[in-house]
Amino acid sequence: MPADSQPDAATRPAEQCAPAVAPTDVRPADPCAVVIFGATGDLAKRKLLPAIANLAARGTLPDAFRVVGVGRKPMTDEAYRKKVRQDLAEFAPEPVGPDLWAWLEARTFYANETLADAGSYASLGRRLDEVGGIARGRLYYLATPPDAMAGIVAGLGAAGLLVETPPAAWRRVVLEKPFGRDLESARALNRLLRADLAEPQIYRIDHYLGKETVQNLMAFRFGNGIFEPIWNRRYVDHVQITVAETVGVENRGGYYDRAGALRDMVQNHMFQLLALTAMEPPTSFSADAVRDERVKVLQAIHLCAPDEVRMAVVRGQYTAGGADGRQVSGYRDEPSVAPASATETYAAMKLLVENWRWAGVPFYLRTGKRLPTRVTEIAVQFRSAPLRLFRDTPVECLAPNLLVIRIQPQEGIALQFEAKVPGPHVRLGTVNMDFNYADYFAATPSTGYETLLYDCMVGDQTLFHRADMVETGWAVVSPVLEVVAGDPSALLFDYPAHTWGPHEADDLLGRDGREWRKPTMAARAPAGGAAGRRAR
Ligand code: BG6
Repeated sequence: MPADSQPDAATRPAEQCAPAVAPTDVRPADPCAVVIFGATGDLAKRKLLPAIANLAARGTLPDAFRVVGVGRKPMTDEAYRKKVRQDLAEFAPEPVGPDLWAWLEARTFYANETLADAGSYASLGRRLDEVGGIARGRLYYLATPPDAMAGIVAGLGAAGLLVETPPAAWRRVVLEKPFGRDLESARALNRLLRADLAEPQIYRIDHYLGKETVQNLMAFRFGNGIFEPIWNRRYVDHVQITVAETVGVENRGGYYDRAGALRDMVQNHMFQLLALTAMEPPTSFSADAVRDERVKVLQAIHLCAPDEVRMAVVRGQYTAGGADGRQVSGYRDEPSVAPASATETYAAMKLLVENWRWAGVPFYLRTGKRLPTRVTEIAVQFRSAPLRLFRDTPVECLAPNLLVIRIQPQEGIALQFEAKVPGPHVRLGTVNMDFNYADYFAATPSTGYETLLYDCMVGDQTLFHRADMVETGWAVVSPVLEVVAGDPSALLFDYPAHTWGPHEADDLLGRDGREWRKPTMAARAPAGGAAGRRAR
């Protein structure tokens, strides 16, 4: 039945609406209200509301559930519901059917607040009491510009809206990145938050940790016995982590030009991929046990002295270029980007994790916009086998074994090894053993925010950044940011759009006798065919 033919759905007490959800083996989240600051913004409409609809469809939301959009724009509940419905029609990964919509509609409200003074927070408090019913937990989601965050938390705190009455009336705050813009500002923000919140109430979100394949890293490493014994300096030659995007800065030039790849991608998403790859097995899967191990990796990274930065980091900026007959403009010609901008759209770095397991094994990280293909992967290259056995054969070199964990797209894991090419001579070809997620598990359409939102509602902080993680991440990039602050064009080189970054990034590995992988060429070998092999 279309929602329009159920005029009373929004006015009926929500708990009386028929459940619109499929049965599930996951326990529903705690009774709560998700209060979205920045309710009419991009993040809310593209990710948060569709993720909430998906959670509802999977039966993981409780009956006592509310969504409360908070915004400066005057709007009635009805007008907001209409907007939510339109946004869901446009952005939900699966169509939101009439029953599901009726369930959501009855639980959706709007609070028109300026948040300019104490009176506005007091009025928000009254509104939340009024619409909350038995939804006693409150998740304040700050989908706002970063400079508004501290003020909102202070306002909520002063109005008494962050006081918890355990066990059911919890108060949690979700903060989107960027979390500060350097070590000092991140520390200052953490101090401000701590004035009103305890660490277990703070959820610093990183959407990379919501990706199934990122979470699978722990399952792969610690759920299998065969990889851990070789996951160390004795067997691993080096690790390459690539996050390549084909898009440019799109309509985010204003934000991006003040951030750049180091702040936008490296300090957060890439360091988390590195931490999950290099961490020790936690003693349990409790949030703090896992986060302790992740932060220890970041703490073990060698901090470059200013004169070492030049040898360890390359920044790049894309210039105009074309591929597939499509020409795109250079970064400096993008909307809202300064014409003489020295912001990097590409960053590559060599990091050393100075601990017992990884001493001497370089971790090479690279990320960039307008690269030739969209791919996120972690490639663990093992040491080559000794050649002695093949000394009287035509084999002149042995390709190293390579384990590639593909995070996106084409999620999977591939192991590259040597095999004998059929024939009378000893010749070797490189082949792939390739696991594709899609071949084994049906994908559930998702925005990537479902797990993270659900975890906030059940109080699981495993996938969220803790204050010390954020600060340690900033400490690692600080030496680079300091060099750049002294000379904005330091270590900055051009690369044409749709190429693999500046040549200087090749030199970063070349100096160590290594080279970057070309992910498109080796990501997936054609099944069984000779084209998938390289013979020597
Ligand atoms: C965001 C960055 O955090 O991650 C963007 O701000 C980037 O610049 C995006 O494009 C990449 O995310 P994904 O999930 O598409 O790899």
